[in-house]
Amino acid sequence: MTRPRNISRDFTRREFLSVSGASALSLANPRPADAVSHAARQTSPVSPTASPFPKNFLWGAATSAYQIEGAAHEDGKGPSVWDEFAHKPGKIHDGETGDVACDFYHRYAEDIAHMRDMGLTAFRFSLSWPRVLPDGIGSVNQKGIDFYSRLVDALLAAGIAPVATLFHWDTPLALHRRVGWLSRDMPQWFGDYAAIVARALSDRVTHWLTINEPRSFIGGAYVTGVQAPGEKLARAAYMRAAHITFLAHGRAVQAIRANAHQPAQIGYACDVSPSLPATDSAADIAAARESTFSSPLDHFSGAHWWRENAWWLDPIFLGRYPASALAALGKDAPEILAGDMETIHQPLDFLGANIYGGWLVRADADGRPQPVPFPAGFPLTAFGWQVTPDAMYRGPKWLHERYHLPIFITENGCSSRDWISLDGKVHDPQRIDFTARYLLALARASREGVPLLGYLHWSLLDNFEWQEGYTQRFGLIFVDFPSRRRIPKDSALWYAAVIKKSSGASLM
Ligand code: FCB
Repeated sequence: MTRPRNISRDFTRREFLSVSGASALSLANPRPADAVSHAARQTSPVSPTASPFPKNFLWGAATSAYQIEGAAHEDGKGPSVWDEFAHKPGKIHDGETGDVACDFYHRYAEDIAHMRDMGLTAFRFSLSWPRVLPDGIGSVNQKGIDFYSRLVDALLAAGIAPVATLFHWDTPLALHRRVGWLSRDMPQWFGDYAAIVARALSDRVTHWLTINEPRSFIGGAYVTGVQAPGEKLARAAYMRAAHITFLAHGRAVQAIRANAHQPAQIGYACDVSPSLPATDSAADIAAARESTFSSPLDHFSGAHWWRENAWWLDPIFLGRYPASALAALGKDAPEILAGDMETIHQPLDFLGANIYGGWLVRADADGRPQPVPFPAGFPLTAFGWQVTPDAMYRGPKWLHERYHLPIFITENGCSSRDWISLDGKVHDPQRIDFTARYLLALARASREGVPLLGYLHWSLLDNFEWQEGYTQRFGLIFVDFPSRRRIPKDSALWYAAVIKKSSGASLM
C-alpha cells in the first residue's frame, strides 16, 4: 500500500510569505518532484501569467451575525437562542458570550475600510432574524432593517458585493419556544422573514444564501447539544428538524424570487467534508468519491455526524433523499408529506460549499471504501482540525459532477494561536500556508473545468467561535477583545496581494 498522502513541503516558505507570495496562485508549474508529489497533483502546467480563476471571481471573507455583531439587546433586537444559551453556566468556554463580540454593529465602517484596503470584492454576512423580527414573526424592527441597509450601502460604496445569509444559527427565541425547527410552521415563518428581507435589500443585494450549514446546525443544536439551544433529541426528532430546515430553505428561495427587485443569485451554504483518497490509485480515488456521497447509519449519530454529505445536499439539489440513508434510518426517517420534495427542490443558481477538510479513505480488496486513520503527527490547525487541502480540489470537483451547478466557496479557513508580536504586528504564517495550499487545490479544480463563483475566507475578523468562545482565532484581522482594536494580520496583507495579482488585467 502506498503511504497515505500528507501535505509535506510543496512550496518554499518564501513563496507564501512574501507579498509577492501572491504569485503562489500563478505559480502553476508543478515542481519536478517525486512521482507522488502533492504539488504535482495540485497544479497543472499553464502560462505563469494566467490566473487559474475565472474573470469576475469573487474574492472575499465571511462572517455571521451572532459571531461578530454584538449589540445583543440594542435598537429593538429580540433575543435569539444564542443570547440565552451563551448565558447558561458551563456552556461556553470561559463563560463568554456574543453580547459585544467584535462590536461590528457599531464598527462596521472601520471594518469595511479594512476590506477595501485588502481589495475584497465580496463580503458574506448574515442577518440576525430576531434583529429584523424580534419575535421571529409579526412586527418588523425597522431599526434592524436600517442597520443591514446601511451596511449594504457602505459595502457597495467600497466596491464590495454583499453576500447575504438569511440564517446562521440564531433562531429567534420566541419561535424556539413554539418548538422552532420541530414545527411544521417554521418554513412559513422563515419564508415570511425572507420576503421581508428581500423586499428591503434586494434592490442592492444580488447574492443570497438561505441557511448556513444545516448539518452542523442540526448536529450542534439537537444531536450533541453543544450549541444553542443545547438539546439532545431522539433520532426521529432531529431528522424531523432536518427535514423542516430543508422545507424552510425552499420557502425562503420562493420568497426571495417572488419579492426580489432584480434577478437574484440564490444558493445554500452546506458544510461539505469529502472523503479523500489515501493514495493516488484509481481504486482509492473511486472509493473516496463513493464514500463522499454514501450514508451509512453511523453518519446519523453524534460520533460521525460531520461526515455525512448526501443527506444535506441531495434533497436540495436532486429533489430526493439518498435511498441508502432512508433505508438506514428506517422508522426514524422524517415524514415526507405530499409536495414537500418539490418545495425543498427549488432551482438554485449555485452551490455554496463551506470546506475545511476531509477524511482519508482507501479501497478494500473488493473496492469498497474503508476509512484510513490520519498518520501520527498529521498537520493540525489550532482547533485540532486536519489540514487537508485536497478537500478543496475533490470537494468542488465531485460536487459539480453530481449537482451540475457553479460552486461558490462560502467558507474556508483555519484557527491559529495568533497574538500581537513585539513589533506590534500579528504574524500568522500558518494561516498563509494553509490558505495558499487550499487555494492551489481550488485552482486545480478550476483548471479542470469546475465553474467557480468565488472564495470567501472564514473569517474577516477573529470572532465568537460558538461554544469555544474567543479561544479560536480565525480572522484575517486580529481583534484585541478587551479593546476591540483591529490589526490586519500578515495573512490579510498576503491575501490582498493574492487578490491583486489574481484579478489584475495582466492575469486575465
Ligand atoms: C463553520 C461555521 C462558522 C464558523 C466556522 C469556523 O462551521 O459556519 O460559523 O464557526 O465553522
